[in-house]
Amino acid sequence: TISYKVDSLMSLMTLAEKIGQTNMFNGTWEFTGPIPADNSSQEKAEQIKNGMVGAMINVLSAKATREAQKMAVENSRLGIPLLFGYDVIHGYKTMLPVPLAQAASWSEDAARQGAEIAAREAASAGQHWTFSPMIDVSRDARWGRIMESAGEDPYLSSVMARAWVQGYQGKSLADPVSIAACAKHFAAYGFAEAGRDYNTVDISDQTLYNVVFPPFKAASDAGVATFMNAFNEINGVPATGSTFLQRDILKGAWGFEGFMVSDWGSIGEMVTHGFARDNKHAAELAMNAGSDMDMESRAYERELEGLITEGKVDIVALDDAVKRILKLKYALGLFEDPYRYCDEQREKETLLAVENLQGAREIARKTMVLFKNENNILPLSKEVKSVAVIGQLAGSKDIPLGNWRGQAVTNSAVSLLEGVQSAVSDQSKVAFAEGYILSTGTRDFIHELDIQPGDESGFAEAIRLAKSSEVVIMAVGEDCFQTGEGRSQADIALKGNQQQLLMEVLKVNKNVIVVLMNGRPLAIPEVMDQAPAIIEAWFAGSEAGNAIADVIFGDYNPSGKLPVSFPHHVGQEPLHYDRKNTGRPVTNDFDSGLVFWSHYTDAPTESLLPFGFGLSYSTFEYSNFSVTPKEKGATVTVDVTNSSKIDGTETVQVYVRDVVATVTQPVKRLVDFQQMEVSAGETRKVTFDLSEEDFGFYHKNYDFYAEDGVFDVMIGGNSRDLQSIGVTLSF
Ligand code: IFM
Repeated sequence: TISYKVDSLMSLMTLAEKIGQTNMFNGTWEFTGPIPADNSSQEKAEQIKNGMVGAMINVLSAKATREAQKMAVENSRLGIPLLFGYDVIHGYKTMLPVPLAQAASWSEDAARQGAEIAAREAASAGQHWTFSPMIDVSRDARWGRIMESAGEDPYLSSVMARAWVQGYQGKSLADPVSIAACAKHFAAYGFAEAGRDYNTVDISDQTLYNVVFPPFKAASDAGVATFMNAFNEINGVPATGSTFLQRDILKGAWGFEGFMVSDWGSIGEMVTHGFARDNKHAAELAMNAGSDMDMESRAYERELEGLITEGKVDIVALDDAVKRILKLKYALGLFEDPYRYCDEQREKETLLAVENLQGAREIARKTMVLFKNENNILPLSKEVKSVAVIGQLAGSKDIPLGNWRGQAVTNSAVSLLEGVQSAVSDQSKVAFAEGYILSTGTRDFIHELDIQPGDESGFAEAIRLAKSSEVVIMAVGEDCFQTGEGRSQADIALKGNQQQLLMEVLKVNKNVIVVLMNGRPLAIPEVMDQAPAIIEAWFAGSEAGNAIADVIFGDYNPSGKLPVSFPHHVGQEPLHYDRKNTGRPVTNDFDSGLVFWSHYTDAPTESLLPFGFGLSYSTFEYSNFSVTPKEKGATVTVDVTNSSKIDGTETVQVYVRDVVATVTQPVKRLVDFQQMEVSAGETRKVTFDLSEEDFGFYHKNYDFYAEDGVFDVMIGGNSRDLQSIGVTLSF
């Protein structure tokens, strides 16, 4: 067995070699050429040869990983293979929609298939391990990394977490089309104060246990190979140095058997946090807390030997870390053949293979969310007389690729313009005007200052085109590099002068379809109010334009639902549907004359678009809703009728409220959903079996149970428009 093999190998390892396994380096040079002469590269190469490196990040391609692997295997005393990891966040070369978009599909299959495509491509390029999925519950649209998450809800995030892990890891890690996954960032990174990346997290146990932990627990239960800790402190202790998170919860309560990698430099950053005196102290705290591998702090490599000799770190802790790391290398089959992922022929055949792009398109169209469709303006006929496609975002072949884009080729996406051109029967009917300029310059380090709100030079042409066309398709949103790590924003309204141009366009043409491209909820009340049709397309990946056109022209009936609430105003953030009632709830509008109630005096309390919301070209009606108590749970049924003339897909959502509890509970929280196709005119009965797990919550000391009493059970197609039945249950 693997354990036996690991133990035998470890009995041969020196202390230094064990420490080497806990050390991860960045692949700062191309391994396909000579080692650069600089000291750092020379030193790193020596370390690899001496068996002082366990894993590497950013060594890319079958050829480069083969060369780096050779360096380790052929020179080090025990020939232990390296592990190659990379941030394959939503694709390696073929880009899938960003993770937030994938969550909008509410489809486990879509998420799993996306991860399979990403894994196949990454594995063919020598990668064993992805730093994905990112399953931080994210409730603050200002936070740039919300784009990498599954959104605001713990249940939906858990479903996605499981699907992504299964997709990456496949049936067996030994199969070289799968890669090891990494659940990150443990924990509560999404709760950074004010949505500012890396900021302090001060969070209650209730929120931690019931909101933050569930997706991580789901990933652990799904057999995720690794975890990554987080940059943030949590209640005064940096996650990287938290024994509670890593030993008590993850490796203790959950019995996680994989290993924990630090975030980039997060061990060293404990000094900056004011938690460790120096790098040596940081290494001591991190290893003792259960952080098994050091990503680029060089703290373990340099300090662990001394710490063990001085008795500050127990060899048992190091041995445990090394065991966990070696176990994965065995599971991946690297000891049988360290080069099994380094097949250049396979790489050539796999990257950007037709079936990967086809898969990306099919997944992308499932992620689109229809916000509005006045007078059924959509779907458009392909025989449309003339279409004006407007906006820098609509012409861009790059922005749809999103941030954290792996090895995507710059400008390789199908633009919205191209998608529309290929969909219509006559391409000459499609004209384009850039209209506004959202981003210029070096885009991957985009800063607000790069945006030129004053530049209206493209307005006249766009308005002229809009006036002379039957239909306008206008894209607005954000540049993909305005989202992602380090891209928090204090304002989430449309940037630059996009909205101004949109309003001008609406004055001259009423048939305007707005396509949103963005990686976070945007505050767009005016757009919602004025535009007759709106499709949320996110950053949809390599096949973006085709997928959006599939929706616009009716080749795909939209089925996406929001994984996150959209606010009226940034001041409502953090915003989530599963709020508490408070002692002074207000559910009506802000201007109703109430004062001493929980509300804003200058903005609504509720979201602009609620969690779970998304229209279809079909219409669905819910009837015969019933809730029947049963032993420790309830059976819920409802009939869903497609009352339109077009086949469609509906996601039926079940929410629960524990009306009176020893710890106050949210006014509703998602506990289950089912997605199903309903043909035109058809009625389908849906049944949900709810158990104690759905009615209970974690109490103090991580103790989960449901309390007897009255529960509201709610059902509907989004978190706002729900039918509710009260039942009394005992457990
Ligand atoms: O995986 C990432 C993490 O999410 C943020 N810091 C860097 C890591 C490796 O690139």
